[in-house]
Amino acid sequence: MPDFPAGFRWGVSTSAYQIEGATTVDGRGPSIWDTFAREPGRIVDGSTGDEACDHYHRHAEDTALLAGLGVSAYRFSIAWPRVQPTGAGPAHAAGLDFYDRLVDGLLAAGVDPVATLFHWDLPQALEDAGGWLNRDTAARFAEYADLTAARLGDRVKLWITLNEPFIHMSLGHGIGTHAPGRMLLFDAFPVAHHQLLGHGLAVAALRARTASPVAIANNYSPVRQVGDTDADRAAAQAYDALHNRLFTDPLLGRGYPDAPGLDPAVIHDGDLDVLAAPIDVLGVNYYNPTGIRAPEEGSPLPFEMVPLDGYPRTAFDWPVAPDGLRELLLQLHDRYGDALPPIQVTESGCAYDDVPDAQGRVDDPERIAYLDGHVRAVHEAITAGVPVTGYFVWSLLDNWEWAEGFTKRFGLVHVDYPTQRRTPKSSYAWFRDLVRR
Ligand code: FCB
Repeated sequence: MPDFPAGFRWGVSTSAYQIEGATTVDGRGPSIWDTFAREPGRIVDGSTGDEACDHYHRHAEDTALLAGLGVSAYRFSIAWPRVQPTGAGPAHAAGLDFYDRLVDGLLAAGVDPVATLFHWDLPQALEDAGGWLNRDTAARFAEYADLTAARLGDRVKLWITLNEPFIHMSLGHGIGTHAPGRMLLFDAFPVAHHQLLGHGLAVAALRARTASPVAIANNYSPVRQVGDTDADRAAAQAYDALHNRLFTDPLLGRGYPDAPGLDPAVIHDGDLDVLAAPIDVLGVNYYNPTGIRAPEEGSPLPFEMVPLDGYPRTAFDWPVAPDGLRELLLQLHDRYGDALPPIQVTESGCAYDDVPDAQGRVDDPERIAYLDGHVRAVHEAITAGVPVTGYFVWSLLDNWEWAEGFTKRFGLVHVDYPTQRRTPKSSYAWFRDLVRR
């Protein structure tokens, strides 16, 4: 493995609902994921995040795993319904106490806390008032950011406002496979705009409370056009605008791209300035490229997604394409030039069906190969001049993978859910050695 620049940040990521459990402990309010997971048929194995990895009670053990890994940073998310159980009103001290303990434990272990404010677990009370379709949720989000930073702003080293607003819009509100389960297709555009507005307002709230850098974590997927007709080209452009530009062009001061579904009536005067507040870091979450061709006649979508041939595949059936990460980093650099802040890859990882052997060891050579390829792709992008300053593996632990429940294992550490026993996989040792070097 080639050398990375001094100060490069190596980390791992998780999110609250996927690991914490303890969903009714210490006054936490319900979130849209508690509700959604209880609806029959939503989660493939019928599970919920009620216990997940029980990280709420085992965070000290998990911090020791981070220390053993030697990473310089840990990206976790804060559960809004712990801080404001009904999404409004004063901070709920017992909820913030948990993150206070976590952050102090991380600092004592020499690990920088990187906190995401919204990783999809909206307080149910806000959803009942319209959720992200309601413009007021943006203001509520800024208030929550302020309350959280008032308590943790002196110790969190990087703040991330939103996780993957595109996925929350498209899966949560477009096709309904994630909470809150709405099927609005392109009528989901207000969810895009209100999340971005909430981001901009939260940036201002955070700046008033902390000198730490502020970021957003977007999901990106380079588009591989399948077919060569003008219609295929138009389809690829439409998908690229939705997935890769809708949440980045306006953030970096370009205004919205010409994207399907965009409804100007939702955008009020002055909004574009608010959401383009300068950020210090652009978080990039990357898993795979997307194959796109022209849709069939009569399709409600202006594109059709097609499986990409010729790649190895993960247990999620996602293609393993490290070249896609290099391509996307170069594309961001080309597209945004000087407007592009330094990038940190805030999620990168893969699911495999990892099973302990007779000795209890978990060997995951495919994950090592996956990470090796993606880390090299980042290095190639840096060599080509893209300002990338960090790389976080998704995930520290096997955890509750949204609609896939417990069926997809992404961790460097295996979790046996009935006993909550943690077993570092061979990829944990590989990543530790990489970080050490
Ligand atoms: C990302 C999510 C993260 C995890 C990975 C596999 O889209 O941000 O929570 O589910 O996918």
